[in-house]
Parts: sequence; C-alpha cells; structure tokens
Amino acid sequence: MHIKKTLMILLLCMASTSALAAGDYQAGKIKAYTCSGCHGIIGYNNVYPTYHVPRIGGQNQEYLAIALKAFRSGERTHSNMNLQAEALSDQDIDDITVYLAGQTSDAVNRSAANAAAGQSKSVTCHACHGPTGKSVMPIYPNLGGQQQNYLSKALHDFRDGSRQNPIMSGFAAALSDADIEDITAWYASQQGLTEIKDK
Ligand code: HEC
Ligand code: HEC
Repeated sequence: MHIKKTLMILLLCMASTSALAAGDYQAGKIKAYTCSGCHGIIGYNNVYPTYHVPRIGGQNQEYLAIALKAFRSGERTHSNMNLQAEALSDQDIDDITVYLAGQTSDAVNRSAANAAAGQSKSVTCHACHGPTGKSVMPIYPNLGGQQQNYLSKALHDFRDGSRQNPIMSGFAAALSDADIEDITAWYASQQGLTEIKDK
C-alpha cells in the first residue's frame, strides 16, 4: 500500500517534469529549418527598420515559448514573426524551443564601445537579467551576446509602448537614449546567445 502510494507520487512527478520539458529536440531541428533562414545567418538584417535579427540559439526555453505565443496571438507584433508563429501548434513550439535552447554559445566576448559605462548602469537590471546577461529565471530572456541593435530596438519599443510588458515598460521608461546605448553595449559584449547552428 505504502509502496504503491510512493510509486504513484513518483509517476505523477515524472509526468509533470516531462510536461514541463515536453518537446523533441530532433523534431524541433527539422521544424526550425525555416527559422534558420533568418536566425541562422550571422549578421542577418531585418529590412525596415534595419537591425540584426535576434540571436535565439541558447535562449531560455520558457522565454522562447512566451515570445512565440505572444507573436502567435498578436500580443507582440512583427509582421514576419506573426506569420511564422501563426503556423505553429503548441507541440511545434515545444519542439522548436527545446532545439533552440539546446544550442550552445559560441563563447565569444564581443567588443563594444561604451560597454564599461553600461556595466555600471546595468545594476538595476541584474535582479532579473543577471550581471552578464545570463538571466536568473528561465522566463526572463538572456541578454548576454545578443545583437546590440536588437536589444536597443527592444528597449525603444518598450519605452514607446509598441512592445508591451508590465515589467519592462517601467524599466525602459527610466532610461535615456544614452543609457540604452551603454547598457546594450555591455550586454551585447558578453558571452551567451548564438545564431542557430545546425547540429
Ligand atoms: C524573415 C526572417 C525571420 C524568420 C524566417 C523567422 N524570424 Fe524570428 N524574428 C525575426 C525578427 C526580425 C525578429 C525580431 C522581432 C522584433 O523586433 O520584435 C524575430 C524574433 C524572434 C523571436 C523573439 C526573440 C526575442 O529575443 O524576443 C523568436 C523566439 C523567434 N523570432 C523565433 C523564430 C522561429 C521559431 C522561427 C521559425 C518558425 C522564426 N523566428 C523565423 C525574423 C525572422
Ligand atoms: C523584474 C525583472 C526585470 C528587470 C529588473 C528587468 N527586466 Fe528586462 N525583461 C524582463 C522580462 C519579464 C522580459 C520579457 C518581456 C516580454 O515577454 O516581452 C524582459 C525583456 C527585456 C528585453 C527584451 C529581450 C528580448 O530578447 O527581446 C530587454 C532588452 C531587457 N529586458 C532589458 C532590460 C534592462 C536594460 C533592464 C534594466 C534597466 C531590465 N531589462 C530589467 C524582466 C526584467
């Protein structure tokens, strides 16, 4: 009786663990083929406005899923990404995000002007994004190694309201253009995210 109960609890735990990490890396690799057309090319630009497409390799799985669902529902807007995400089922998102999160960093420290000034200004961001852009919880995006002009674009979007998030709208509102320039230089120069690499 006792053993049966323990076994039940164990099985329940296993079920909830697999529900969290549901997703098949190999299936995700196949499904992410079209994504690589933009996110797998080093320095690939969004056309208008011009900025580098974000690095999503090595990003946290939970954050990736939140972002894709926000594009799918239209809560977050970007014409290309809305189209891409509309075509994805929940299972596709689970598979693709497992694959993307499993990509390993190219471990490059990129140099960027103003990074030193940005390091000290980034202190208010550490509680969630960490001192070097490795976020403290998987629902927060990693910023380390992200494209600087993408980070900057995201902060301007939060500040002017074209991207909505109750937490980030407040933090972005407190930043001047120079603060954005400096802080993004700091995080972009850190190790972390990468383009999608076929592996
Ligand atoms: C035509 C180019 C293009 C293609 C193809 C594309 N993306 Fe994107 N993606 C972008 C751009 C540009 C952005 C930045 C949008 C913004 O500024 O908010 C983006 C943003 C994202 C983000 C949010 C990143 C972040 O840090 O918030 C995720 C996740 C993402 N794409 C996943 C995918 C997946 C998965 C696919 C394939 C199913 C895909 N993308 C296909 C161009 C593309
Ligand atoms: C209390 C937690 C918290 C703090 C502190 C915080 N952020 Fe964020 N940040 C978030 C969350 C949550 C998101 C994801 C928002 C979304 O889903 O669109 C985010 C997203 C971002 C993004 C977009 C990343 C991407 O991949 O699109 C940038 C850039 C960013 N934060 C920069 C900052 C900076 C700079 C600071 C300090 C001035 C800061 N954040 C402070 C929680 C936080």
